[in-house]
Amino acid sequence: MAPETSFTARLIAWQKRAGRHDLPWQNTRDPYRIWLSEIMLQQTQVATVIPYYQRFLDSFPDVGALAAATPEAVIEHWAGLGYYARARNLHRCAQHIVAELGGNFPDTPEALAELPGIGRSTAAAIAAFAFGRRAAILDGNVKRVLCRHFGIEGFPGAAAVDRELWALAGELLPEADIEAYTQGLMDLGATLCTRGRPDCAACPVGDACIARRDGRQGELPAARPRPAVPERRSTFVLISDGQRLLLERRPPAGLWGGLLVPPEGPPDEVLARLGLAELERTGMATLPHAFTHFRLHIEPVLCRVAAPSTAGQPGMEWVELERAAAAGVPTPIRKLIRRVASAAG
Ligand code: ADE
Repeated sequence: MAPETSFTARLIAWQKRAGRHDLPWQNTRDPYRIWLSEIMLQQTQVATVIPYYQRFLDSFPDVGALAAATPEAVIEHWAGLGYYARARNLHRCAQHIVAELGGNFPDTPEALAELPGIGRSTAAAIAAFAFGRRAAILDGNVKRVLCRHFGIEGFPGAAAVDRELWALAGELLPEADIEAYTQGLMDLGATLCTRGRPDCAACPVGDACIARRDGRQGELPAARPRPAVPERRSTFVLISDGQRLLLERRPPAGLWGGLLVPPEGPPDEVLARLGLAELERTGMATLPHAFTHFRLHIEPVLCRVAAPSTAGQPGMEWVELERAAAAGVPTPIRKLIRRVASAAG
């Protein structure tokens, strides 16, 4: 058996044997009830949905009753479920079905997906459960199952990965038993192949699962890529008279506020500003440092100067090389000072 066939066949067998069979929206072909449940389940868990679903059906037993209700009555039955656009779309959809379609739900996934609030996956679920249509679902739970089982890399929200997943979901569809297969995918994602702590030992397809084989259940599906942080580079001038290092106290607000840091800027400008005469200049290796919002490439330059005869400028401090690393300096600067001190010592 091809791996796909095996996945599909074993999922169907498992759903029939061990899946959920007594949810309030199962054991019916009524598209109204199935549609209502799928909309309520879009962003809400089964246990939360059940009492709302029953109360909703008591008040609005069919699409005609829902279409005739006031918007206030519909919202009132939704209060507490969240994502209230779902309730407004539900009401609009019911009115459209009554006014334009003679009160009958369309019976293909394509036509269902044209209706307000019904996306591609929800349309497929309704078409499968109500009309036995062979159509692929792909909600968040199913994406997790497929990414793990088939070792699909990349963030599922990325267009290329999304296309790959839809293609795979389509290839996996069974020739028969679409209802058990669709429910099996939902049951597996909700009860075993959960986001945290999946129960792989109980999984009916676990022996063929790539994520399980490689111990990558926590890495698949891949998380949304973090936006690239901006890169900055800046020159820091390590000015030394052989014994001491010249450091500048940063203003209290801002980056490295209140800490001692070598003066920053092009070496010639820094030396001119400080009235110092250079004896020797040595380049040092660039030091990358990660801040929260950007990455700084510190480009250090070591300048040997003659011991100054005059008192220093305000904000500037000559610090003994041995003491400098322990003075209030930021971590990457401490690393630089150690390099200078060990080269000098
Ligand atoms: N989540 C989405 N649709 C569902 C269904 N029909 N049964 C259980 N959970 C679901």
